[in-house]
Amino acid sequence: MIKASAVITFESKLLLKGESLAKRLSVPHIDAISKQIIKKPDIVSYIRSKFEIKVSKLKVVLIYQNSGLYLVQITKKEFLFICANFHGNTVKYRRQKGGGKNEMIAKATGLSIDSNLSILDATCGLGRDAFILASIGGYVTMIERIVEIHALVEGALMQAVEWGKLSDPKLVEILNRMKLIKADAISHMLSINRDSRPDVVYLDPMFPTRKKSAKVKKEMNVLHNVVGSDSDSHEMLRVALSCARKRVVVKRPKAAQALGCEKVNYTFKGKSNRYDVYICAN
Ligand SMILES: C[S@@+](CC[C@H](N)C(=O)[O-])C[C@H]1O[C@@H](n2cnc3c(N)ncnc32)[C@H](O)[C@@H]1O
Repeated sequence: MIKASAVITFESKLLLKGESLAKRLSVPHIDAISKQIIKKPDIVSYIRSKFEIKVSKLKVVLIYQNSGLYLVQITKKEFLFICANFHGNTVKYRRQKGGGKNEMIAKATGLSIDSNLSILDATCGLGRDAFILASIGGYVTMIERIVEIHALVEGALMQAVEWGKLSDPKLVEILNRMKLIKADAISHMLSINRDSRPDVVYLDPMFPTRKKSAKVKKEMNVLHNVVGSDSDSHEMLRVALSCARKRVVVKRPKAAQALGCEKVNYTFKGKSNRYDVYICAN
C-alpha cells in the first residue's frame, strides 16, 4: 500500500480544502496557486519539478485543481490520474441510458423488485457501483477505509451536489440517498445494532487479475497500489452474512472462485463480472 506524499493545490478556491486534507493525511501541503497552472501537462511538469522521481519507485500525490480532487500515481515513465465523479457526462449518460432496473446489479441486489432497499456498500472504492445502486432507488451507505480514496469520493460527492443544485435536481435526489463513512467495513458492520441493519450488503473487494479495458486496467492498477489486496475479504463476507437482513451480493470477475466457503444461492453473470448472491435469514 502506497500512501500519498503530499497534497498540492492549484486552485485558489480550494486552498482551505487542500490544507485541511493534508492535515488529515499528516502530509505536507504545497500551495501552487500562484503558478496558475490548469493544463495536465503543466501539472505533470510542476510535480516533476517538486519531487525526485526514481525509476524503481512509485509515488502518489493528491492534487486539487479546477475540476476537483485527483490522485496522481507518479513513476519515471508515466503519470496516472484517477478521480471519483458523480456528475460528469459519462455518469449522466450511464444514469439516463443504462439499464436501470434491468441492470445485473439491480437484479442481484433485489432493487429490480424493491427499489427502496437499504444497501451497505462495504467496499466503496471510487463509488461507481454505489452511484448505480442509488440511481436505481437504493439508500446506499458507502464504507471506505483508505483515507486517500475516501477523500476522492467525499470531494466528488460535494462537487456533484453543488452541480446538481444548479442544474440537475434529479441528481441531488440520488446523492441524497448516498452516505459516505470512513471506516473499516468489518468493524463497522460489527457495530451496527439489530434495528439498523441494512437489507443488503454489497461487496466488491480488490481482485488482482481482472481482465479489463486498457483504461480501466490503468485505473485498477493505481487503485491496487494505493489500496493493497483486500486480504480480509473472506472475513468481510462472514461478517456481512450476519449483518444483512436479506442478502449479501459479491461482485467477482466472471471466472474467479467464489469468496470464502459459504454456499452461493444464485449467480448473475455479466460480460466480464458476475454477482454471487447469498440469501440471509436474519
Ligand atoms: C475494487 S474496489 C471497489 C470498487 C467499487 N465497487 C466501485 O464501483 O468503484 C475495493 C475497495 O474496497 C475497499 N475496501 C476493501 N476492504 C475494505 C474494508 N474492510 N473496509 C473498508 N473498505 C474496504 C478498498 O479500500 C477499495 O477501495
